[in-house]
Amino acid sequence: MNRTQEQYEKARQYLAGGVAASTRLNRALGRPMYFARAEGCRVWDLDGREYFDLCASHGAALLGHGDPRVRQAVEDVLARGAACSYEHELHAQLAELLCQTIPCCQRVRFTGSGTEATMHCLRLARAFTGRPKILKFEGNFHGYHDQVMFALGTPADQLGPDDAPTAYPGSTGITPGIERQLVLAQYNRTDLLEEAFRRHAGELAAVILEPVWYNAGCILPRPEFMATLRRLTTEHGVLLIFDEVLSAFRMCAGGAQEYLGVTPDLCTLGKAVGGGFPLSVFGGREDVMRRLMPEGDCQHSGTYNGHPIGVAAGLAAVKVYREEGFYDHIRAVGERLVAGLNQVFQRHGMAGQARGLGARLGIYFGVERFETYRDLVQHRRDLMLRFVAAAIEEGVYFHDYGGAACHHGFSAALTLPEVEQVLDRLDRAVGRLGAAKP
Ligand SMILES: Cc1ncc(COP(=O)(O)O)c(C=O)c1O
Repeated sequence: MNRTQEQYEKARQYLAGGVAASTRLNRALGRPMYFARAEGCRVWDLDGREYFDLCASHGAALLGHGDPRVRQAVEDVLARGAACSYEHELHAQLAELLCQTIPCCQRVRFTGSGTEATMHCLRLARAFTGRPKILKFEGNFHGYHDQVMFALGTPADQLGPDDAPTAYPGSTGITPGIERQLVLAQYNRTDLLEEAFRRHAGELAAVILEPVWYNAGCILPRPEFMATLRRLTTEHGVLLIFDEVLSAFRMCAGGAQEYLGVTPDLCTLGKAVGGGFPLSVFGGREDVMRRLMPEGDCQHSGTYNGHPIGVAAGLAAVKVYREEGFYDHIRAVGERLVAGLNQVFQRHGMAGQARGLGARLGIYFGVERFETYRDLVQHRRDLMLRFVAAAIEEGVYFHDYGGAACHHGFSAALTLPEVEQVLDRLDRAVGRLGAAKP
């Protein structure tokens, strides 16, 4: 037994399911992965094997592991005692920088995780509008709280009608009846969105969506879908919330809202905003954010909110994202990686397709077109799992957490020459899959 397996056996005796978080189990391996060390774009497992990390902490490690600028900022705060649960001078510094960077942000608040950020944002939207319901898109992911844990991985035979997707629960134990406060629609289906507004506009507090749908790999909103969404929400006084937990800082400093040229009323930021440390943010229009206590009547608080370690790390990281040339490098690496991966699939006659934007990408097997969740359910997960297992064997780490199509990505620490090494390893991995070709 190797050290990784030993560790998992030990963990299973004390940790529920042997993991600290359910999706840590890599479905391609049937066990979690343990890394003893991480530096830049590489990780080393407990047995000393080295991997290029194409999970990149699910997007949190946009600067790479152990970035010295982030580390220095964290060490400075630690040296001063890192007292939490008090206001800190770093809070306003990061808030100011975020308001200068993210188009919709006139005011922000800090929370600890993406889940908390969407939860508070939705409460705020209800408080501001006085309306009960939220429109969410089939397959879009917004964290683990009860209100949004529906229509995530709906099986193909239970999708329901086109204009009324099934509120398929993503877990047991969800508050009974809470799904009645959700209106579900299909991503990229402008006609069905218009229909949903005809039926429900008056009771909608907000529409929440992934403005670039990275949780489905990498799916972009069609321009007319996005334009209609912005128009309808404005016309009906419904708040438009971009959940940028994953898309923020991914392709440009202003995130998907800058990239798409569409400004929402509110947004959430997570993962990369903390430079690899726990921090998330929600923010937006000043008049809406004023509804938060103590100015207004909507509650948002927490012992660890705005913990100085996360805020210091975030401040250091966001300064780097704003540096000249940062996204030129991300773009060059991303384009080469995606093109090279598609060449690898072609060379081996495999029905795989990679698609990316900025520092994240999706890999799809056996699907030509993917714009909605209903396209995605055709994706050959069996091939994906074999591909991921073979890639890990060759020294490229992808994490398959069991989504319809998982998201993958890289950090800014990955260089162009290293991309060629990644592609060589993936070429060998796909070569080994001969027997698995469709
Ligand atoms: C778009 C989106 N929203 C919310 C979340 C939840 O964030 P967290 O895992 O930090 O709670 C995620 C996490 O993957 C996400 O991708």
